Amino acid sequence: MELHAAIEQLHDRCAIYTSAPTAARLLDLIDWTPTTDLSQAVLLEPCAGEGAILLEAVRRLIRSFHSHGQTASLATLKPRIKSFELHAGAAATVRRFLRALLVEENLGPHLADQLVLEWVAERDFLLEKPGRATHVAANPPYVRWKNLPPILADIYREALPTMSTRGDLSVAFLNRMQEWAEDGGSIAALTSDRWMFAQYGDAFVENSKSRGWTITVADERPSDPFLRTVGAYSAIVVLTKSDRSIHRVSSNRREKARAIQRELLARHGSLFEAGCVVRVGPALGAGRTFILEPEQAAEVEDELIRPFLERRDLTDPVVETTRLRVVVPYDRCGMLIDPAQWPGFAAWIEGHKEALGKRSHFREKGEYWRTIDAVPALWSENPKLLMPELCNKPFVTLDRTTAIPTHSIYAIWPGEWPVEVLQRVLNGGLLELTAKAEAPALKQGWMRFYKRFLLKTPLPKWSHLSSEDRSGLAGDNCLQFDKIFERLFGFTPGATLVP
Ligand SMILES: C[S@@+](CC[C@H](N)C(=O)[O-])C[C@H]1O[C@@H](n2cnc3c(N)ncnc32)[C@H](O)[C@@H]1O
Repeated sequence: MELHAAIEQLHDRCAIYTSAPTAARLLDLIDWTPTTDLSQAVLLEPCAGEGAILLEAVRRLIRSFHSHGQTASLATLKPRIKSFELHAGAAATVRRFLRALLVEENLGPHLADQLVLEWVAERDFLLEKPGRATHVAANPPYVRWKNLPPILADIYREALPTMSTRGDLSVAFLNRMQEWAEDGGSIAALTSDRWMFAQYGDAFVENSKSRGWTITVADERPSDPFLRTVGAYSAIVVLTKSDRSIHRVSSNRREKARAIQRELLARHGSLFEAGCVVRVGPALGAGRTFILEPEQAAEVEDELIRPFLERRDLTDPVVETTRLRVVVPYDRCGMLIDPAQWPGFAAWIEGHKEALGKRSHFREKGEYWRTIDAVPALWSENPKLLMPELCNKPFVTLDRTTAIPTHSIYAIWPGEWPVEVLQRVLNGGLLELTAKAEAPALKQGWMRFYKRFLLKTPLPKWSHLSSEDRSGLAGDNCLQFDKIFERLFGFTPGATLVP
């Protein structure tokens, strides 16, 4: 495939444009506002598309110039904006929109023509030599590396550092944007949340930290972020080199919790090192289409029907039965099925073709019936602990039903720990410690857990505990449990840690 065709294909896959409220929000988060003096500022928009972010940024820039008494000329305005767009059609469109906006803002057609040419470069941002920007706002392309046209993947792999060429393209964009904002600039990006949870994002996150960047999630689930509905979840993240971070509870309380957490991790290791496995419930897509009442599930083959749990089902310590079912196109070994071999499923998808077919995700391949995430065999393993990502009191529920939880619930498989004991120990205060040390605090005492926080919860290996400690923790004697817990973790279970 030649380069031109590859760019067309990439654009087709990633041109999912930002909604106006989200564009405004991204700019607010980095203080690119009409009331800020932007006369010396430089905004980078690395992939302008048809200008959702760029046009709003320019509108704000002109208003800022007016409100701060600055003269709007080629010399004063030209250095303020730098934007790129790889696709010729999109670049032509954004230039046309931008020109109309500038004329509407009374800049005069000649100046408008000059600025449009200076501001929008029809070039590949990833291959550009980084310049300098004080502000960066973007909705970078979300395309998995394996789905990139090979000719482009080869060019990028050659030109970019390895840690930014894993997983999906947005990581490469974030990394490049950091280079532009190296001198104290702020970056706001609407991006898939995948790289933050997935292993492939770890190298980038670690590397960013080591270069002094703070990555903050300003909104983990913005509502209606795009102009059209897509079957992928996104987040708004802010990257800064200073300490200026959103929602960061950098209070004494957090510092104290972190100190306790550090000490316990050094002593025992983490939940990850203890062999526990954490996964978020698979994203399904298509609203509630895949979720069924038990009686609706009868027409589909049993193998493809699983118990399903939502947040409101997690009120008791143990789940023994479930209200709902979910239909998944994966067998119990985690293999994607072929609907032609499963007549019940084939009939069901036929009946739901309209809702399923609307999603952009798998339409190209004609696999409109797939769930966004795969459902590996792990989900059939029993038992596990479940924890909502959003909570005001962190606790885990024991699930004995092999349920698949909704995408906003985490599952923890206990490894070598007896699951009931693990539940008791985590609910005894270890999760609360993680929450206080790590989780972003939201309004009214709510907090958000991420997989990586859960994995960092201090926990010894079960096999490293003495046999007395193991039987004491697993036994019925509460006093004995409390004593061992306190000796291991330095506080009594249920005590308010770091009030
Ligand atoms: C997700 S859209 C976002 C468009 C716009 N910023 C918005 O928020 O609506 C991504 C855009 O990036 C463009 N793009 C993809 N790779 C690019 C690259 N390497 N350099 C510049 N633009 C690129 C695509 O053509 C597409 O228009």
